[in-house]
Amino acid sequence: MDALVALCKRRGFIFPSSEIYGGINGFFDYGPLGVELKKNIRDCWWRDLVHRRDDIVGLESSIIMHANVWRASGHVDGFTDPLVDCKVSKQRYRADQLFFAPVVVDGATVGYVSALESEDTAGVLQAAAETLKRKRAIQGALAPVAPRDLTEARPEEIALIPSPATGEPGSLTPPRAFNMMFETHVGAMRDDSAVAYLRPETAQGMFVDFKAVVDTGRVKLPFGIAQIGKSFRNEITPRNFIFRSREFEQMEMEYFIHEDADWAKCHREWIDWCTGWLHSIGLPASHLSEYNHPAAKLAFYSRGTTDIMFRYPFGVQELWGIAARGDYDLKQHEKHSGVPQVIFDEASKKKFTPHVIEPAVGVDRLVLAVLCAGYAEEDVTDDKGNVEKRTVLRLSPRIAPVKVAIFPLLKNKPELVARARELYRKLQRRYAVFYDESGAIGRRYRRQDEIGTPWCVTIDFETVETDGRFTLRERDSMQQTRIDETQLFALLDAQID
Ligand code: GAP
Repeated sequence: MDALVALCKRRGFIFPSSEIYGGINGFFDYGPLGVELKKNIRDCWWRDLVHRRDDIVGLESSIIMHANVWRASGHVDGFTDPLVDCKVSKQRYRADQLFFAPVVVDGATVGYVSALESEDTAGVLQAAAETLKRKRAIQGALAPVAPRDLTEARPEEIALIPSPATGEPGSLTPPRAFNMMFETHVGAMRDDSAVAYLRPETAQGMFVDFKAVVDTGRVKLPFGIAQIGKSFRNEITPRNFIFRSREFEQMEMEYFIHEDADWAKCHREWIDWCTGWLHSIGLPASHLSEYNHPAAKLAFYSRGTTDIMFRYPFGVQELWGIAARGDYDLKQHEKHSGVPQVIFDEASKKKFTPHVIEPAVGVDRLVLAVLCAGYAEEDVTDDKGNVEKRTVLRLSPRIAPVKVAIFPLLKNKPELVARARELYRKLQRRYAVFYDESGAIGRRYRRQDEIGTPWCVTIDFETVETDGRFTLRERDSMQQTRIDETQLFALLDAQID
């Protein structure tokens, strides 16, 4: 992760927000290459889902909506995370990410240890338990730790659990519900009637505009409404770079189905569609898995939720949630607004509330996933037999920020520069291309490898003096072939869509 974060900063993918003022935790800026990568991911999703299917339409709803939207959806009352304070250090923790265990020696509890959630929480707690036993010179057999999180602590245990910040017990508060919505005021008044929220998900826009979309007459069940946009959550512990931030972007789709439809089949179809789409932007199957939420932990209205998980360097984590939400959201909005949220079924001549399958993914989590999956450091041997390190980002051509880099072999040969510039201008009309004439060719290749450019083209003397063909160098294999302009356009056409 450290190497990747450093690369993102060095090469202009992602910067901490407001860095010249010391930064602001949980917010990030996308630099010149990052913004291209992110846009390509968004564009691929939109093209594949909205343009290339007949059953999905797009939407862009406002970020700030009527506060009643969030009362109806349940966010005002229930969009909370359990918060724990350390009264001494003033640190705040998410109770479900703060783990503890009693230290049990010869069957008796001799103290408590705590640790923040990590890849190996149990291992860290076990080591802490051994340290505690050794420091206090306690004799006897130490039992294996049984980790629980702070939401599971009994009231009398809270006082005995050490704060991760101080290592001492007595400073942690019992968990309390912390609402994650950012609040603001609309208009000149600052009273309760003017309270509004930055949306914590894009999904509610699709529910609130459901009738408006249906009434435009373009859609018939089953159909989906898709939206890409910013969401905001005042996360207690933003972490792991852009994985969990406070301002992020979501791509969500609400797929409305008949109340009697086979929702489980439809749910499965969407899980498969999402998995296939992830492969299409270059995420390998080896990094992906599925997690089915246990029935006991589902929201009361949910019939089933499956997360597509990605193996990040910091652990296997949720990338894409696919939820079967029944008719809960439309029914809630009907109840709170008084406006029927129903559709007329021609076959049964009946009105009913459709049910919904919702695939919801974060663009930033996707950006991080493709960067993690693509990042590699490897030893390569040059023509003279020297071994050097190359850093390469193996990004799919569909999403790579730069598709082709064009180099004249030498920058002081006007005929080479002229031909390279001509090709560059031609390609630029259709693709994101980069022109570079400075430094040795090997160094120019390395610079492009590091930002994930799939192909480099070098214009040399043969190009201008003989058949017009040039060298095409492929990023992953580093193989070089000679091709002409028509072949280059055909290659790009086939690979970038
Ligand atoms: N409408 C359903 C919904 O919003 P969610 O699981 O809370 O469900 C959907 O969010 C997706 O949004 C997640 O799978 C994740 O990819 C992304 N996401 C959620 N919170 C995020 C955060 N704080 N930072 C970055 N991405 C986030």
